[in-house]
Amino acid sequence: MIDTNTIQNILETARIDEVVGDFVTLKKRGANLLGLCPFHNEKTPSFTVSPRLGIYKCFGCGKGGNAVNFVMEHEHFSYPEALKYLARKYNIEIQEEEQTPEQVQALNEQESLYHVSDFAARYFADNLYNHGQGRAIGLTYFKERGFRDDIIKKFMLGYAIDEWTNFTDHAIANGYDKKYLESTGLTIVKEDKMYDRFRGRVIFPIQNISGRVLGFGGRTLSVDKKTPKYVNSPESEIYHKSNVLYGINHARTAIIGSDNCFLVEGYTDVISLHQAGIINVVASSGTSLTTEQIKLIKRYTRNITILFDGDSAGIKAAFRGIDMVLEEGLDVKIVLFPEGDDPDSFARKHRSSEVEDFLHKNAVNFIFFKTRLLLDETNGDPLKKAALIGEIVQSIALIPDKIVQSLYLKECSAILHMEETTLMNELNKIRRRNYDRKIKEQAAVAPEKVLVPPKPEPTESTEFDFFSTEYQEKDIIRLLMRYPQHVLTFEVKTDKEVQTYEFPVASYIVNDLRRDELHFRNPIFQKVFDTAAAAIDADTIPDETFFLYNPDKEISALAATMLTSRYELNDWSRVKIVVKNEADRLPMAVTHALLSMKLRVLEKKFDEMLASLKQAPDSEIMPLMSQQRKLQQKIERIAQELQRIVLR
Ligand code: CTP
Ligand code: MN
Repeated sequence: MIDTNTIQNILETARIDEVVGDFVTLKKRGANLLGLCPFHNEKTPSFTVSPRLGIYKCFGCGKGGNAVNFVMEHEHFSYPEALKYLARKYNIEIQEEEQTPEQVQALNEQESLYHVSDFAARYFADNLYNHGQGRAIGLTYFKERGFRDDIIKKFMLGYAIDEWTNFTDHAIANGYDKKYLESTGLTIVKEDKMYDRFRGRVIFPIQNISGRVLGFGGRTLSVDKKTPKYVNSPESEIYHKSNVLYGINHARTAIIGSDNCFLVEGYTDVISLHQAGIINVVASSGTSLTTEQIKLIKRYTRNITILFDGDSAGIKAAFRGIDMVLEEGLDVKIVLFPEGDDPDSFARKHRSSEVEDFLHKNAVNFIFFKTRLLLDETNGDPLKKAALIGEIVQSIALIPDKIVQSLYLKECSAILHMEETTLMNELNKIRRRNYDRKIKEQAAVAPEKVLVPPKPEPTESTEFDFFSTEYQEKDIIRLLMRYPQHVLTFEVKTDKEVQTYEFPVASYIVNDLRRDELHFRNPIFQKVFDTAAAAIDADTIPDETFFLYNPDKEISALAATMLTSRYELNDWSRVKIVVKNEADRLPMAVTHALLSMKLRVLEKKFDEMLASLKQAPDSEIMPLMSQQRKLQQKIERIAQELQRIVLR
């Protein structure tokens, strides 16, 4: 248990921008920070972090909260796990008692698996330096491979003593439950016999993003071809191979920093490159690349460079996996190593600067790489070439960004000496086929909801319902929530003098809308308005925290959205006003918002009146028409006023 003082300390120390910044690349945008949301797929950033308020909020998927919420959501941590993570990040000591064997047993299942894995990793690592056999065999092996001590320690490399139950005995003596030894796969249980999975092997612990040990890879030191080269931990409650990238805990920050991730095949490739100073590198460790692994990389960068040993058969086998990366919207480059070299051996043979130089010079865009590679194989055979075009366009069709797609089409048409339109036709064919397939898949999943084609992505024009006031309402509520106490100063010139009036934004908005008896169509907006109006009636001007910490959940959630800055940029660009700092031009912003809403409401009224005029009996036509004229004048007046504001 973590005591409340410590929790308080953690909450006060953790800075939202730093906590989020470990996972998301953030760029400064006014007082806030903006990045690509880690919780849903997006191409334009709508994930906002407000250091001042200590919150994050995504406008795309709606997720939001404080630093602890973020870590829980992102790392799938429980509340205490998230607190511990933050405590570790900020070097805040958590008072936890020494574990007795009983307490060890009482820990919950997952936590127990983590514990025993951590225990094992430390034991194996200790063997490497402090056990005769470990030193003589394990450490010697790593040294021969050229691994430095600091790197060996950093990756927690170890050695498993070559005895049947060395580790299992040690773990049980230390109070670890046989059950967890078995479920982590560290101990193999057959009938009533137990023995160690890892014996006489060097050990590579596999860690998650925050450094917790999930499982192990054990490499044999024997050259006997019959001995499997690697023995690996099985899947467990904590070790899901398809979600894990070896080295990610060390590489994460460097991936963000360099905005690129190198992907290699093996543990030793990661370690050797790391030792050569190339830190932004991870391995999929034996499994073929999974979507989950790609998504993990995508949290930190949109650029992935895959390193291949020098044979093209291996690469062709990897084409499908690479297509998955394209599909996720990542930019993929390929580096081919010289015949007979893998990243590990190459890094050992060359100096750091040479390795870096090599990677830099040899990284080729995957689409171009694939095009050239396949083109070489066609030998001018037109049939083969046609098949090749299909293959390549297939890959291009997977890229979600249409602009990027068309750039590739252009480039590939040049490489292939082929009309761009030919490729474009092929692309459209494939798109249509993919679309049909998607619909069929949907139908198969949910037969009762059959055959409603997916809605086209909303574009600017379909989004825009002429009489909807949603957008204007939102703008007013945003200003109300964001600047409730900012004072608006209005000057009214009479013949003799200039009179100055001052209103806080909240009172101004409430008064103005009440005077015209305008209501919000969106019920949540109306609720915000009513709540603010009630406060003002009770002589208190709400401040930001009034909304942000409002007991009404809908109001506080909306406030988190509104208090971050994306809307001001969008909205103002729509009316073509360049605003550097909205707060400076608040009187204009507020009047503009209010007038726009009124204009919309009146226009709708006008439209309705027009409809009723068509059906009205003769006797009512005259009065209706005069009403309509008045309305029209009013509309024109407001439109003019708006125009003035915009042009000012
Ligand atoms: N692998 C495995 N089981 C095997 C062979 C390989 O699990 N029998 C996985 C390991 O994760 C390994 C990766 O595939 O790291 C790449 O294989 P390989 O290049 O053979 O291993 P390296 O780790 O590079 O080992 P070394 O350099 O010592 O040959
Ligand atoms: Mn290797």
